[in-house]
Amino acid sequence: SEQIASYTAQIKQLLSANNAVLVAHYYTDPLIQALAEETGGCVSDSLEMARFGKEHPAETLIVAGVKFMGETAKILTPHKRVLMPTLEATCSLDIGCPIDEFSEFCDQHPDRTVVVYANTSAAVKARADWVVTSSIAVDVIDHLDANGEKILWAPDKHLGDYVSRQTGADVLLWDGACIVHEEFKAKGIEDLKLLYPEAAVLVHPESPASVVELADVAGSTSQLINAAKTMDKEQFIVATDQGIFYKMQQLCPDKEFIVAPTAGSGATCRSCANCPWMAMNSLESIVHVLENGGNEIFVDQALGERAMKPLTRMLNFSA
Ligand code: 13P
Ligand code: SF4
Repeated sequence: SEQIASYTAQIKQLLSANNAVLVAHYYTDPLIQALAEETGGCVSDSLEMARFGKEHPAETLIVAGVKFMGETAKILTPHKRVLMPTLEATCSLDIGCPIDEFSEFCDQHPDRTVVVYANTSAAVKARADWVVTSSIAVDVIDHLDANGEKILWAPDKHLGDYVSRQTGADVLLWDGACIVHEEFKAKGIEDLKLLYPEAAVLVHPESPASVVELADVAGSTSQLINAAKTMDKEQFIVATDQGIFYKMQQLCPDKEFIVAPTAGSGATCRSCANCPWMAMNSLESIVHVLENGGNEIFVDQALGERAMKPLTRMLNFSA
C-alpha cells in the first residue's frame, strides 16, 4: 500500500542519513526482512545477527528482533548506538530466568560449566562461562563434554534436553521454555504427515522432544532455511515461527512450506506459530526510532564487560 511505500522510503533515507544499518531476525515482519536486505543490512539467525552487528562499520545498529538481540549487540560493541523498534519485545526464556534465582542455582553447582542460551539477559550472560545459540549448541556441548566438563544449562529445557541427547553429556537443566515452540504437538504433525506423506519435517529444537523426534532436520532458523534449500523435497512441514517462510519461499519459490499446527489450531494452519514479541516490530516503529533516536539499549558497563567474554567465546567458536 501507499503507507508501506512511504515508510520504506523514509527508512531508507533515515538509515543513510544516520549512518545506521538494519539487523533483523527471520521471525520479524517480511516487510522488515526485505528492507534489511535491500539496504545492505542483514536478515539472519541470532548468531549471525550478533556477528554482523559487531563487524559492520555503521555507528548505529537498528536491531529488529527481541530485547536480548539488542543487548547482545550493545555488549559486543559498547561504542555503537543500538536502537530497537520497541523496548517491549522480550522473550519467555529471558523472563523465565531471573538473575537472582539463576545465580543461586549456579552457586549450588560450582562443579559445572555454565552454558546459557543467547535468549537471556545481560546479567545472566555475565554469570556464564559460555553463551551459545541453537546453531552451535550441540557442537559447543560436545566440545565441553570431550574435555570432561559437566554442564549447567539455562534456560531452555527443550533445547538443553535435545543437546544432552545428541551429545550424551552430563547436562543439568534450568526449567524454561519458549511459549511459541512449546505449543507444537507431535499429534498435529503426525496428522499433517498423512496429508503430505512426501513432506520433510523441519523443527526448531526449542520444541518438545516428541516433536523433535519427528524431525528430518532439527536446527536453528538458518539451518532450517538451509535444509529447505538443499534437501531434494517439494514439501516441508515446518515447526517454527511463521516469519521464516519469507526467506524459505524466496529461496525456494517452487517448494511448498506448511506451518506445523500448534495446540488448538486446525490440521493445516498458516498463522498460528507467531512470536508475539517478534511481531511487535513494525516499519512504523523503525521510522520513529530513526527520527527521534528513542528506544536506545544501554547495558551496565561492568556487566557488559563480563558478558562480553562468553559472547566472544561464542563468536570465536563458530568462526
Ligand atoms: P535462532 O538462533 O535459531 O535464530 O533462534 C532464535 C530464537 O529466538 C528462536 O526462537
Ligand atoms: Fe523467545 Fe520463543 Fe519468541 Fe524466540 S520465538 S524470541 S525463543 S519467545
